[in-house]
Amino acid sequence: MKGFQVGVVGASGAVGRRMVSILESRRFPVGRLRLFASERSAGQRLEFAGEPVEIERLTPESFTPDIDLLLFSAGASVSREYAPRAAALGIFVVDNSSAWRMEPGIPLVVPEVNPEALSPESLIIANPNCSTIQMVCALYPLHRAARLRRVVVSTYQAVSGAGQKAIREMEDQLESLRGGREVKPAVFPHQIAFNLIPQIDLFLDNGYTKEEMKMVNETRKIMGEPSLPVTATCVRVPVLVAHSEAVTVDLEKPLEAGAAREILARAPGVEVIDAPEAGRYPMPLMAAGRDAVYVGRIRRDLSSPNGLSFWVVSDNLRKGAALNAVQIAECLFQKGFLSSRRGGH
Ligand SMILES: NC(=O)c1ccc[n+]([C@@H]2O[C@H](COP(=O)([O-])OP(=O)(O)OC[C@H]3O[C@@H](n4cnc5c(N)ncnc54)[C@H](OP(=O)(O)O)[C@@H]3O)[C@@H](O)[C@H]2O)c1
Repeated sequence: MKGFQVGVVGASGAVGRRMVSILESRRFPVGRLRLFASERSAGQRLEFAGEPVEIERLTPESFTPDIDLLLFSAGASVSREYAPRAAALGIFVVDNSSAWRMEPGIPLVVPEVNPEALSPESLIIANPNCSTIQMVCALYPLHRAARLRRVVVSTYQAVSGAGQKAIREMEDQLESLRGGREVKPAVFPHQIAFNLIPQIDLFLDNGYTKEEMKMVNETRKIMGEPSLPVTATCVRVPVLVAHSEAVTVDLEKPLEAGAAREILARAPGVEVIDAPEAGRYPMPLMAAGRDAVYVGRIRRDLSSPNGLSFWVVSDNLRKGAALNAVQIAECLFQKGFLSSRRGGH
């Protein structure tokens, strides 16, 4: 067999399906693909490299030592239970849930920012929160150039960030409202169609939501700046795919908007679209289905001497989840960690 035995856990989900298609489109060296989900989707088939692959029901016996790599995207409780089982068999796990992200010793990786956090010994690797990934891709190059002193972010997050059921809920609500029928929210705490909700995940004692504190804590961990001041307000908006963020930073050194634009234009994974006079700036509809982190509206913050404001948009299911996970897998392969453990297959 040529290539690695790779599994996707949560293959039928919004992120899992994209993991499968991105493994294929980026030609990751997959010798055999295994797909896992709950009994709800077991038996369904997804296409990979022109062949149908059947989804298997995930059980404690699902993983075998001949699997090289598992991409997990089935929620935190599945990851907590199953990722250690996989690691005990010597399998690399790239986990898309929040289960392991802040665990000391578990690498939390955005390949454009901290690929050096990967090591052959750390078999469980955490994929950061979607809003955090796209933000740090833009923050890190600015930090290297002029050092961040403070980050203030407000997000405008798409419904697909809450999975397949959430997409259906917004579509159903739009249809109900058009038909004059009553809307009953289930996934979101309120009607999302024609609305926005300033709550993502549960509230904590400090008045922030869990999603907001993920952005604070994960940004610090990925950038290796444990006390960087970060404050976030996370808002769900009636957009299907791609999260948007209004970011304002204070820098240690002055940085003109033009210089920031050049730095970001050279940054890996980032594309600058910033011609406001021509009405050109990033928007969710143009970012959906694409890989880049789009940055625009770059300008000096007039309220602060070394302040800079900008707008960041990216596909939450791709760079915010599936693509970043596959890029981590590519790093493991390029660094020789995958093949050196097994000698490949
Ligand atoms: N959506 C995003 O933008 C995004 C971004 C970053 C991270 N994440 C994280 O990625 C994970 C998946 O998100 P999603 O949006 O793809 O959710 P989703 O569309 O609801 O998909 C969930 C997947 O998990 C599977 N699953 C659920 N319970 C399971 C169980 N007990 N055993 C095996 N499989 C099980 C589901 O299988 P069935 O089809 O059989 O139910 C489905 O394949 C979550 O941890 C989420 O926080 C999502």
